[in-house]
Amino acid sequence: MSKTILEVRNITAGYVPDLPILRGVSISIYAGSLTVIIGPNGAGKSTLIKSIAGLVPISEGMIFLKGENVSSIRPHQLANYGISYVPQSNNIFRTLTVKQNLSLALRNVGKNATDRLTDLLHQFPNLSVKLNEKAGALSGGQRQFLAVAMALATSPQIILLDEPSAGLSPKASQEVLEMLNEMTSRGVTIILVEQNVNQALSLANHCYILAEGVNQVDGKASELLGNSIVSEIYLGGKRLRVQK
Ligand SMILES: Nc1ncnc2c1ncn2[C@@H]1O[C@H](COP(=O)(O)OP(=O)(O)O)[C@@H](O)[C@H]1O
Ligand SMILES: [Mg+2]
Repeated sequence: MSKTILEVRNITAGYVPDLPILRGVSISIYAGSLTVIIGPNGAGKSTLIKSIAGLVPISEGMIFLKGENVSSIRPHQLANYGISYVPQSNNIFRTLTVKQNLSLALRNVGKNATDRLTDLLHQFPNLSVKLNEKAGALSGGQRQFLAVAMALATSPQIILLDEPSAGLSPKASQEVLEMLNEMTSRGVTIILVEQNVNQALSLANHCYILAEGVNQVDGKASELLGNSIVSEIYLGGKRLRVQK
């Protein structure tokens, strides 16, 4: 049996007081799994990831990390809790070189930074040959690899990623998703927001579908792959649960 590493329990969260975006959202994440969160635009997927990362205040409900209440976590504390967050955009410094980006990510790693850099370059050989290139000159796929390498700098247990394949070619997004899938075999837990539903479902372990800030369906990714309920919710034609 897999252990739950992160539990979001019935949270209400939003950007301004009295205007909740998420209403009673719950998710349970198994250690070492790849969980994908999907749903139409504006469903609250990014808001959910940001709530876990301490970037959006939670007014009701709680978030537990290995049983500890982390509902009031602040973004600067994330690394200490073993969590990395990769935002959808501006997740690398384009005007800096690949090496400078990695050095920034490694700045709090202390005396192990050199060994960690060696590990990361071993894990991402395509970055190791571009160390002196400006990050902005990398292909879209390589930029996402760099963003993930930076997220891995602090050896997190959990990585939150918001649409890492947005704007990538199908081939590049497949490479990014496969790399994330591979990371779970090293024990990292991944929570991924993704628009490439079929690609994500074919690699993920578990899936949650959100719409209108509310949980709709969840289940094993393999069982939701090809299930008509996914496209019905996506196209907005069907809601199992509606706005409260
Ligand atoms: N910074 C913000 N301030 C106020 N409202 C926001 C902000 N970001 C997103 N929203 C609103 O929250 C809702 C959910 O957005 P979001 O979580 O980004 O959806 P998704 O990632 O599923 O497309 C949308 O109605 C959006 O307009
Ligand atoms: Mg989003």
